Amino acid sequence: MDLLKYHSDFLAYLAEQDFKREPKNLYEPVDYILQLGGKRIRPILTLIAADIFSGNFKKALPAALAVEVFHNFTLVHDDIMDDAPLRRGKQTVHEKWDINTGILSGDAMLILAYQYFENYEPTIFRRLAQLFSKTALEVCDGQQLDVDFETRNDVTIEEYIKMITLKTSVLVGAALKMGAIVAEADEEQAQHLYDYGMNLGIAFQLQDDYLDTFGDPETFGKQVGGDIIENKKTYLYLKSLEVANDSDKEDLISFYNNEEKNIEKKVSQVSAIFERNNIPDFTKQLIESYTNKSFEYIDKLSISDEAKEALRNFGLNLMNRNV
Ligand code: IPE
Ligand code: IPE
Ligand code: MG
Ligand code: MG
Ligand code: MG
Repeated sequence: MDLLKYHSDFLAYLAEQDFKREPKNLYEPVDYILQLGGKRIRPILTLIAADIFSGNFKKALPAALAVEVFHNFTLVHDDIMDDAPLRRGKQTVHEKWDINTGILSGDAMLILAYQYFENYEPTIFRRLAQLFSKTALEVCDGQQLDVDFETRNDVTIEEYIKMITLKTSVLVGAALKMGAIVAEADEEQAQHLYDYGMNLGIAFQLQDDYLDTFGDPETFGKQVGGDIIENKKTYLYLKSLEVANDSDKEDLISFYNNEEKNIEKKVSQVSAIFERNNIPDFTKQLIESYTNKSFEYIDKLSISDEAKEALRNFGLNLMNRNV
């Protein structure tokens, strides 16, 4: 179980692909976003899963790339929807080109992702395509809820968890399960791995929301405060409404319901409300609790102790990341 090896083999496989096709205005943004880097968490999980169940992770490279191309497609469209200027420390696709380019290059990426399944024989192809289609629709559901929540004032923490499960966790779970499918693992085992990914994915999105406000602008790679600017009903916001005094609550509701011309003021005052209400601690506790819940599914797997340890370390590393 060598995570660096999965990472470097994945990058080598990515480098073999030729995304620099014609028309340039369609494919250059595809190449741009895929070369911008990122943590490559999902494809690494696909390769880990395949390795655990078959000892052959190379067979899972096309599936891993499908997952990463799909993920990058969601980022291109998500950045349009969130009006985000920065991604991985560089201009977002719609900022560097324009919104129409982001839409169509994103569409092309979704189709390119599917094409990688053509590398598999019919039975595996069918299972991968089925899981992928289900997952992709769930991501759309989650993204729509995320946007709907921006203008709602009655969002509950339970609804928020459901929303992040859809927009983020299902893809983490699916990335793992695809590796298990390629490795022709037992269905019950594949499901445990999926459930591990689902819980890890919730912890992952909570951490993403935490970093969006409290990350270091020098290293985070995205616009710090973006969620506050966009009135995102994150756990940070919803938990504040639960624990804050009336004055902080009123201020929060007012900031999220009125157009604030002074963006810096809004971000700094909302961050201060989060901080004085111990929201960073509450968030870290919830991240830890979902990470621990993900570990319960590792225990159900019939795999080597070394493999279990690798999955556990993966979760711990995600919890302590700052990018
Ligand atoms: C960002 O995903 C979108 C979320 C679901 C939070 P990542 O944090 O995995 O982004 P990259 O690929 O590493 O840039
Ligand atoms: C994005 O959630 C989830 C998907 C891309 C499907 P965010 O909007 O929080 O992701 P970032 O923070 O822009 O990466
Ligand atoms: Mg976003
Ligand atoms: Mg978003
Ligand atoms: Mg985010």
